[in-house]
Amino acid sequence: KGLFTYDPGFMSTAATESKITYIDGAAGVLLHRGYPIEQLAEKSDYLETCYLLLHGELPSAEEKETFVNTIKNHTMVHEQLSHFFNGFRRDAHPMAIMCGVVGALSAFYHDSLDIHDEHHRVVSAHRLIAKMPTLAAMVYKYSIGQPFMFPRNDLSYAENFLHMMFNTPCEEKKISPVLAKAMDRIFLLHADHEQNASTSTVRLAGSTGANPFACIASGIAALWGPAHGGANEAVLNMLEEIGDESNIDKFIAKAKDKEDPFRLMGFGHRVYKNFDPRAKVMKQTCDEVLAELGMEDDPLLKIAMKLEKIATEDEYFVKRGLYPNVDFYSGIILKAIGIPTELFTVIFATGRTPGWIAHWNEMISSDYRIGRPRQLYTGHPKRDYPA
Ligand code: CMC
Repeated sequence: KGLFTYDPGFMSTAATESKITYIDGAAGVLLHRGYPIEQLAEKSDYLETCYLLLHGELPSAEEKETFVNTIKNHTMVHEQLSHFFNGFRRDAHPMAIMCGVVGALSAFYHDSLDIHDEHHRVVSAHRLIAKMPTLAAMVYKYSIGQPFMFPRNDLSYAENFLHMMFNTPCEEKKISPVLAKAMDRIFLLHADHEQNASTSTVRLAGSTGANPFACIASGIAALWGPAHGGANEAVLNMLEEIGDESNIDKFIAKAKDKEDPFRLMGFGHRVYKNFDPRAKVMKQTCDEVLAELGMEDDPLLKIAMKLEKIATEDEYFVKRGLYPNVDFYSGIILKAIGIPTELFTVIFATGRTPGWIAHWNEMISSDYRIGRPRQLYTGHPKRDYPA
């Protein structure tokens, strides 16, 4: 015990220094490279925020144009990769396919193995940011048996994603600017969140010298769980299970019952104990999207609002600092846009990619050691194999 500190769940262990993201959980502050998330959500856009996370500064107009064009150059995936999908069942969980196909990208880009070459690291970052929406849309198209749609480089990042998701070779509908803005904002609000479980997983995998595609695939796997990125899917399933406002009290009681493993999904956060600044922006975006679609009376939204009101006034939740987190409202927006519930965590993964890659790059560019936690052994003392 004396040799190292025992800290299950890393409640009080800082594993690294970082210049990327700052969080003050008590005050509900989230800054990317010093800029508040609320200001980025209002004035910036997803690709500009990606640039900021990767390079440390906002781009000039010219740098932004070059960056956006570079990302557009990488949106297609190798034709061979599209054959991978046929190996999956049509009803496979989208995150299962994403773990596979993102890891498989490393088989196509041998230069990415050279992780100590800065140029190759930057190209890998561009490839990942560009290809994630293409792969996410392919996962969806595969699940419904429609042909994959090629990316369209005349569209913005978010418009192109919605195009690949919802257009078909027979019909190309115009993408609503309000929905594209909402989609862009969802990606932006997920872009980074310092040393969360999936980012720490990416760093740990990266600390062994693994290539960036393998590292991001490990982040996707860690994100999948319902305590992390899987919460957005779990929130919607929970709201549907509640089904009616009259059932809310029953679910609140279940969440408070220590004998019952049920938790209110979309509530609570390891770091935010007052409010999650992303949830505030997400709620506002949710209102905009539902107004655009004429869905203000959406029954799920009504259940969500009532649940939020009851829980945030309940002593159990207040005492423990449990407030709606980013995932509480994102699911309602995604559902309204028409994205199926099983795909929600894939959207989170797409948005989080620049954060993962920025942290990986920060680590590789500095002095780092292989991540290797220790343990407290509580098993048998030495014993002899039976004669
Ligand atoms: N519903 C009911 N009780 C809860 C909840 C909840 N959602 N979250 C925490 N608690 C209780 C927990 O039972 C414990 O009570 P007690 O002190 O009486 O034992 C206390 O609050 C502290 O919880 P904890 O599990 O020690 O807190 P943690 O920091 O380890 O966990 C969390 C944080 C986010 C995993 C947890 O709040 C949770 O499971 N929330 C629901 C899942 C969710 O919405 N996750 C998304 C997080 S935000 C997006 C992301 O970053 O991925």
